Formats: sequence, structure tokens, C-alpha cells
Amino acid sequence: MFKETLQHYSSMIEEYIARIPWGKDILNESMAYSLVGGGKRIRPVLALASAEAVGGNPEKVLPAAAALELIHTYSLIHDDLPALDNDDYRRGRLSNHKVFGEANAILAGDGLLTYAFEFLTEPSLGQPGQQLRVIREVAVAAGKNGMVGGQVLDIAGEGKQLSLAEIEEIHKGKTGALLTVSARLGGILAGAAEQEIEALTRYAQALGLAFQIKDDILDVVGDSETLGKPVGSDLRQGKSTYVSLLGLEEATRQLHSQTEKAQAALKLLGEKSAFLSELAVYIEQRQH
Ligand code: IPE
Ligand code: IPE
Ligand code: MG
Ligand code: MG
Ligand code: MG
Repeated sequence: MFKETLQHYSSMIEEYIARIPWGKDILNESMAYSLVGGGKRIRPVLALASAEAVGGNPEKVLPAAAALELIHTYSLIHDDLPALDNDDYRRGRLSNHKVFGEANAILAGDGLLTYAFEFLTEPSLGQPGQQLRVIREVAVAAGKNGMVGGQVLDIAGEGKQLSLAEIEEIHKGKTGALLTVSARLGGILAGAAEQEIEALTRYAQALGLAFQIKDDILDVVGDSETLGKPVGSDLRQGKSTYVSLLGLEEATRQLHSQTEKAQAALKLLGEKSAFLSELAVYIEQRQH
């Protein structure tokens, strides 16, 4: 059942993304190259599933869910640049800058981030108050106190031995913020009660940390073919990660404890959150 539902949500997103119109210039080509070329679509899936977990209609949330994937994709393009992680492969093919050059990769990222706000302001998305709240929350999560802030700390920490608290802070910013707003956005647009939004938030915060711990683990024990991106990138760039600080075994334990924490947060939502609960296990066990 979980697999089918995941497939269902993913294809809703793939179909929506496939309908995005692109021009024929290099900017459009480069934006589409990274967006259309795969990825697990976890953030939009989380948004659709969160809407459904509070009794909403996932179809209605689709433009906002797609916006999250645009922002995420921009972050990956920039993350791979030589000035950041300097990785040549992403989602099973050459990184954006290897195909289109650094200048176009930077601009494709800028283009995707900005384009996301066209989707977030789609008039059909919801009641204006809810929509405005969502737009603001996405801006905060993506920005200096969220994803970009986390990326800056990640880069500043290269070559240093960071504490667990510092690594956690990076993970919350660079990965947790966007995942958390994904779940909240689904809830808010579906008209969830504040208590339900709170439960989704606690779930996604733990899920976000679990997601990045697993990413750190896969960078060590993963298979680059399956991952679609290089392994050993963190070691090469001198990053402090859960694995470099705690070792594989303890990192795996922390991953499990965050997974359980995520599941526990769903209690209030009852049966309708079964998919979200299984999504946490899927993330714990993922191989890519
Ligand atoms: C990779 O994200 C970057 C992180 C925030 C860990 P994903 O693992 O979601 O990458 P895609 O979207 O599936 O390619
Ligand atoms: C990336 O973290 C987080 C963002 C892109 C915001 P990583 O640098 O660990 O992601 P991967 O491993 O390159 O996908
Ligand atoms: Mg990085
Ligand atoms: Mg990286
Ligand atoms: Mg990584």
C-alpha cells in the first residue's frame, strides 16, 4: 500500500512538472535539464501527503508542491558548483555546470528559485490568507535563517572539527528547513488546525534531520551508481557529518531515533497519517 501511494503522489508531481512550459533558450534548457531529470521528489510528496493527512485534497496543493521541487533543484545546482561542493554528477547525470557552464548554472538556479514564486502565487492555490502565510514561510525556510543559512555554515565548517550541536544546526538549516515547510505547507493549504500543523512540524523536523543523517551515511557506504551522485564527497571537501564525528554505527542509531521521533509526532493525526509514518521508514532505509 505504501509503495502504491508513494508512486501515486510521485506521478502526480511528475505529470505536473512535465506540463511546465519551457522556452528554447539556454536558460530554459538549463533549468529544465536539472528539474525534469529525476530526483525522488520527497519534498512535494511530503506536501501532498501532509495535506491528505489532515483531510485535504492533494490535487489542490500541487502548484505549491512543485514550487518546493523548483527551490530544492536550484539548491542542488548551486550546491554542486566548484565554489561549493564541486561535484560533477547529480541525479545520474552530469551536474548542471558541467553541461551549461558555471554562469548558466548560477543563473538557472536563480531562475528556478524565482520561478517557484510564480507557482506559489497561483490564484487557485487556496484561501488568500493561507496562501500568503505559505509564501512567507517558504521564503523564510529557503533563506538566510533556513536553507541558505545552513549552506553558509556548511561551507564555513569545511576543514574544521565541528561539535554535534553545530552539525545539527547545519542540518536543520540546509535540509530540515525546506522539508519542514513542505509538511507545514500541505497542512496550511488544506486548512488544518494549528495543533495539526504543529504535529506535522515536529514530524518533519525529525524527518529532516533523519534525511540528512542518511545522506551523510550514504556518502560513505552508498553506491554512486544507485545514488546518481558521487560518494566520498563529504570526506573530499572536509565536511563534518554525523558519520565523521560519531562513526557509522552511532550515526545509524541517531538516524533510527530521529525516525522514531518523527513517527511519534504523528500520534495526534491518527490513521490518516499512516503514509507519513511509513515515509519515515522509507527515508531511514533508502539506498538513494
Ligand atoms: C539531496 O536531496 C540534498 C539534500 C538536501 C540531502 P535529495 O536526496 O532529496 O535529492 P533528490 O531530489 O532525490 O535528487
Ligand atoms: C545539500 O547537502 C543541501 C542543499 C542542497 C541545500 P549536501 O551537499 O550533503 O547534498 P548532496 O549530498 O550534495 O546531495
Ligand atoms: Mg553541500
Ligand atoms: Mg553536496
Ligand atoms: Mg550529502
